Amino acid sequence: MAKSKALQATHDISNKSSKLLEKIKQNGLQAICFFNNKGGVGKTTLIANLGAELSINLKQRVLVVDADPQCNLTQYVLSDEDFTETYKSESEAQTIYSVIHPLSIGKGYSQNLPIIKTKNFGFDVIVGDPRLALKEDLLAQDWRDAKAGGTRGLRTTFVFSDLIEKAKNEYDFVLFDMGPSLGAINRSILLAANYFLVPMSIDIFSLWAVKNISDALSIWQSELENGLRLAEDPTEILGMSKNKSRLKFLGYVTQQHKEKSENGNPRIVEAYASIKEKLPREIKNKLGNLYPEKGFTPHLGDIKHLASLAPKSQSLHTPMITVTLKGSYTVSRKQARELYEGIGERFLENLAISLKK
Ligand SMILES: Nc1ncnc2c1ncn2[C@@H]1O[C@H](COP(=O)(O)OP(=O)(O)OP(=O)(O)O)[C@@H](O)[C@H]1O
Ligand SMILES: [Mg+2]
Repeated sequence: MAKSKALQATHDISNKSSKLLEKIKQNGLQAICFFNNKGGVGKTTLIANLGAELSINLKQRVLVVDADPQCNLTQYVLSDEDFTETYKSESEAQTIYSVIHPLSIGKGYSQNLPIIKTKNFGFDVIVGDPRLALKEDLLAQDWRDAKAGGTRGLRTTFVFSDLIEKAKNEYDFVLFDMGPSLGAINRSILLAANYFLVPMSIDIFSLWAVKNISDALSIWQSELENGLRLAEDPTEILGMSKNKSRLKFLGYVTQQHKEKSENGNPRIVEAYASIKEKLPREIKNKLGNLYPEKGFTPHLGDIKHLASLAPKSQSLHTPMITVTLKGSYTVSRKQARELYEGIGERFLENLAISLKK
């Protein structure tokens, strides 16, 4: 059967990318979260469009998990019909909530992952659920138990590790979209993933966010390691934690300010330039212990402001690279294609450098 237009590749796989993928594949599934505790920095847009680049153009098997109770990613990637079908019954909806709920009623990990195929993005998705926010307390309470080595607490903390474990035969990448907080849900995801990538805007709060992320991660990881040392029960959790190496940093993506090119306000431009200059140093200082010293360039790319292509792609539930409209969209679609192809290749490059094999 012919592929729908949205799923047709927009470029060939370069030799460089196919070599990088060969190396990455030897290491099995990679779980990567897109995180910044500052909101509105383009996390969801990046994950949806980079996910599409990996799936449609680089032919990877990708699962995207919407772990943000705001559910923006889900609204973006599901067609209107799939959206209505998925959420028509609150008690039967198969969402990220169905992954965590069984644990909270003492039934252990869920049996199956609630996976839906997207029509236009090429990847599969575990859709979001506003009720996920209700599980923040459970994860927070059980974290106290986990730190003391309690089996229940560790099992809850490792709920996303179990998700990744269940996905490992079917997928090459699991990508997590997360809300902008350093709360309990995000802690569990960060502790389960192999890598994190930081989308950021160029402003003073992004500099602070880098420090927050670095501080929080080092505290959480040593608390978890302590909990695992104290754990008496050699459960499946300890097996999962042995298979996993410490979370590493995969790089950051900057988001251009629309104001910079449009109103040319010199104060904004000045502040922007000075922060842009500080950023690489701040990243090296705060996150330098989480990536290889040699041959690794943390900056993955600068996301152009793609004007009305971004909202249009949302309303069509289609990645920016395959929006078919003509007129002014022709130029911005070309920019989007170049942009995501470039970020896709840099993403593979950093991943290949960080992996052992
Ligand atoms: N390259 C782009 N060009 C134009 N607009 C963009 C671009 N990337 C993102 N946007 C817009 O910026 C807004 C914020 O983006 P997005 O929702 O991806 O951020 P976020 O970091 O996921 O936010 P949150 O913290 O709320 O989860 C959205 O309205 C989106 O359409
Ligand atoms: Mg978001």
